[in-house]
Amino acid sequence: MITSTELREKYIEFFKSKGHKEIPSASLVPENDPTVLFTTAGMHPLVPYLLGEFHPEGKRLVNVQKCVRTGDIDDVGDSTHNTFFEMLGNWSLGDYFKNDSIRWSFEFLTDKKWLGIDPQKIKVTVFEGDENAPRDDESIKIWRECFENKDINVEVYDKEKKNNETARIFPLPKGDNWWGPAGQTGPCGPDTEIFIDLEKSVNFENCPNGEDCKPGCHCGRYVEIWNNVFMEYNKTTEGKYIPLTQKNVDTGMGMERTLAILNGFDTVYETDVLKPIVEKIKTLVCCLCENEVRSNPMSSHKEPDDGIATLRSAPLAMTVEEVKSIKIISDHIRTSVFMISDGVVPSNLDRGYILRRLLRRAIRYGNLLKLPNGFLSPLAETVIEIYKEFYPELEKNEDVILEEIKKEEDKFGRTIKQGAKELTKCTFEKITGKYLFYIFSTFGFPLELSFEEIENVIIPELKLNSKKELENKEEIIKEFNEELKKHQELSRTASAGKFKGGLADASEETTRLHTAAHLLLESLRRVLGEHIFQKGSNITAERLRFDYSHPNKLTDEEKQKVEYLVNEQIQKSLPINYKEMSLEEAKKINAMGVFESKYGEKVKVYTIGKDDDIFSREICGGPHVKNTSELVKFKIKKEQSSSAGVRRIKAVLE
Ligand code: ALA
Repeated sequence: MITSTELREKYIEFFKSKGHKEIPSASLVPENDPTVLFTTAGMHPLVPYLLGEFHPEGKRLVNVQKCVRTGDIDDVGDSTHNTFFEMLGNWSLGDYFKNDSIRWSFEFLTDKKWLGIDPQKIKVTVFEGDENAPRDDESIKIWRECFENKDINVEVYDKEKKNNETARIFPLPKGDNWWGPAGQTGPCGPDTEIFIDLEKSVNFENCPNGEDCKPGCHCGRYVEIWNNVFMEYNKTTEGKYIPLTQKNVDTGMGMERTLAILNGFDTVYETDVLKPIVEKIKTLVCCLCENEVRSNPMSSHKEPDDGIATLRSAPLAMTVEEVKSIKIISDHIRTSVFMISDGVVPSNLDRGYILRRLLRRAIRYGNLLKLPNGFLSPLAETVIEIYKEFYPELEKNEDVILEEIKKEEDKFGRTIKQGAKELTKCTFEKITGKYLFYIFSTFGFPLELSFEEIENVIIPELKLNSKKELENKEEIIKEFNEELKKHQELSRTASAGKFKGGLADASEETTRLHTAAHLLLESLRRVLGEHIFQKGSNITAERLRFDYSHPNKLTDEEKQKVEYLVNEQIQKSLPINYKEMSLEEAKKINAMGVFESKYGEKVKVYTIGKDDDIFSREICGGPHVKNTSELVKFKIKKEQSSSAGVRRIKAVLE
């Protein structure tokens, strides 16, 4: 048995022994990155460094990063998909490349001192080549040597030969073996993915690819545990792939999946980071069932389709649907707790809307399990208990986390029954985007929850044909989103439920606005007082959005003063430089730090001004312009409330 703590420690220790420096997990809410709502991979916070900025900890980094990906939300409930996961990652910023990266991965996985996985179980994929980049023969060669050193014969997969059963290395197209850019532009390159062959479903009838089952197939036989990306290109806005001068390695290992594999579990829900949540829900369900007569509970139900071993031994056997509900609730509450801890609150916009959907979906599934109102709070406590040692911020933010969850439970709890009833009443002519928007705005049912209700509850109850009844789903989604946009300016990304990854647009505009953000923070502090701290920022090529702690609306006079002060620094043509130092030194010289905990031992401090005319000092990763004169003219466009005690400024450079 290996625990999550042991796995994290081993990973970090291994890469430290190879000259890497450990850096802390960044927040789930990306800073200064307009293209993503959440941190979806360990590389996100490192984008400036992958593009050539200097990292204060050097060229070899390792960490455990909290990640949220909700694009696969429909798959949650199976054995491996989660909306929150921890990514174990190591990076080379223009240092080692394919050779060390692959050899170290192989050593970590197979060496008895580390994970000790049987190399026979490992199969890998590489990029097969296309018009933009050649086949990755170098990786094939390195992998071949790794396996042959263990006396394992290596065959490369050949489509013509159909040797997928005997092959060990599989060259696959861009769709499988190319990573990034997560957004439209940015660093990207071929990758090599490492799979464990479970050899369980050699029953080809159940596999969508039949006899051509190979790594990448979703039947469950192959589980991807690690991805090594060789970032050699930068994709430009014109869609060109330009070789990067700095060749990077970016890897990501899925913590929960690897843990499940190492322990021989069938699902991630049996690992020590999820099992206590599952157990807790199970206890709640069983409490309710105690007096219920279910003499032969299996008689009217099917056997659960996979093994949550702990559930199988439950006093009362559960249905497939119940097991799935428990998994969904466990997944969603865990993600919600981490999101709230990083400052997200339920709302109808962007991140807040995603959080709201996760919480409400969990509440509805709990409702179907007949769990009492308020069941999520004790589950949130369990999540905090599991993670508090590794993520101390959870315990620190416990009150806010529990309060926000309770508020959402109260709010949705009041309307959920009515909403479900209203949906049952509907005749199918009525199912339009407009109608489901009405259900959302009146009863709080997010769109996919209404769909699930219709598909899983109403259609079976009314014995309707689901294919026929929801055949115009696309149209409904479109209409719903139009209504939503009209009413709440909800961003397209969030409303479509897809969270396309993305990289910061490191264009000149965003760099200029980033420097403007430093000037703005210091100006606000000088005009309003030292209680002002940055609470978040979001920069697009067009504008800067800046949140700061302050109880009141800015008066016109204050606004003018702030604007004046920023423009004064621009006119003074102040130079901008950075210095590398320890966090302690940075604090000593009173550098502002936005999210202290995210920085490693050493930090970069950007100074605007010089000698006896220093305007601001901030701990920051960069990049920034060289001189404030490049900003030309700063203008505040809007000042409004963001949340309790937090104000928001929208500003532009003219
Ligand atoms: N960034 C790579 C991934 O997320 C490692 O798979």
